[in-house]
Amino acid sequence: MQESFFSDKIKLPLVISGDENERKKSTLINWIEANKADLEKKLTNHGAILFRGFDIQTPLDFEDVAKSFDSELKDDYLGTSPRDKKTDFVFSASELPAHYPIMQHCEMSFLPSAPRRLFFYCNIEPEFGGETPICDFRKVYNDLDPKIKAEFEKKGVKHIRNYSSPNDKSKSAFQLKNWSDLFQTTDKKSIEQKSKLHDMQIEWKANDGLRVTNKNAATKTHPITGETVWFNHTQVFHLAAAAFEYHKIHQRQKRWETFKTSILLEIMTFYKKLTKNPNEQSMHVTFGDDSEIPDAYVEHIIDVIWKNMSIYSWKKGDVICIDNFSTSHGRLPYFGPREVMVCWTS
Ligand SMILES: [Fe+2]
Repeated sequence: MQESFFSDKIKLPLVISGDENERKKSTLINWIEANKADLEKKLTNHGAILFRGFDIQTPLDFEDVAKSFDSELKDDYLGTSPRDKKTDFVFSASELPAHYPIMQHCEMSFLPSAPRRLFFYCNIEPEFGGETPICDFRKVYNDLDPKIKAEFEKKGVKHIRNYSSPNDKSKSAFQLKNWSDLFQTTDKKSIEQKSKLHDMQIEWKANDGLRVTNKNAATKTHPITGETVWFNHTQVFHLAAAAFEYHKIHQRQKRWETFKTSILLEIMTFYKKLTKNPNEQSMHVTFGDDSEIPDAYVEHIIDVIWKNMSIYSWKKGDVICIDNFSTSHGRLPYFGPREVMVCWTS
């Protein structure tokens, strides 16, 4: 097996590929099992390992490869993306529309039970865009303005999500899924129990809506290396984030559609600020003491992330393993067909 990187500047992910005699799924699985200890060290060191050029054709093949690396796959998900189930443990990565930006995030960073590892698999290569960029959030932490970083470390963050009622049929462009889709049940008692278990504060609202908040530290200590990792969803949930992110996307993709969406997001952000208080937004984030995080801080975080981000094109059959405690992922807008799947560990 050969090891390489896409770039000398950002050594992420480590790419492992086989020669002609090593392409079979069974060969890869045997090799992963025989080299587990070494691979685990490399994953911790680099943050992500991409297996490329192997005969991985289906979601079940993907599940087999992921299990050979880490047998503790899980199927519970309390994040924001709508997902479709493909096998016992494999889901579509996100059913969000193709033009939606998915900003860099460590999966479910706002939960005490955030997964240790994630695996992504490319079943259908995108025609244009649709990369799943990744970023070392240890480097992001090191590169942030010390004054901004200190404020986050002192105050922590509060992630706010507002979900509509399952009976609410009005499809607002600003709304994600409803609370029964999030919790996979309509039983309010079991939702309350699950929330307690995951340290989520919930509040039933007058219109049968549900507010979910999580107060978190802004950083996390990596459980193996002891390094400090930027570990929160500020530039995902913050009201101003999508417009800043789309500027970056437009600079990269330079399409008429990205220009239009960029302008539309500016207008929507302005409108949302005018019409709803921060606590009522579908998603928002404040400091832990409820004070607002300035837009300029969000823009700075996005700048630092884009400087450290690794963007590479998907190839059919790619499987990437990501250390979720050090490395974030996201998605760039795309057009044409694209099918990327995910599974995750405890
Ligand atoms: Fe994600």
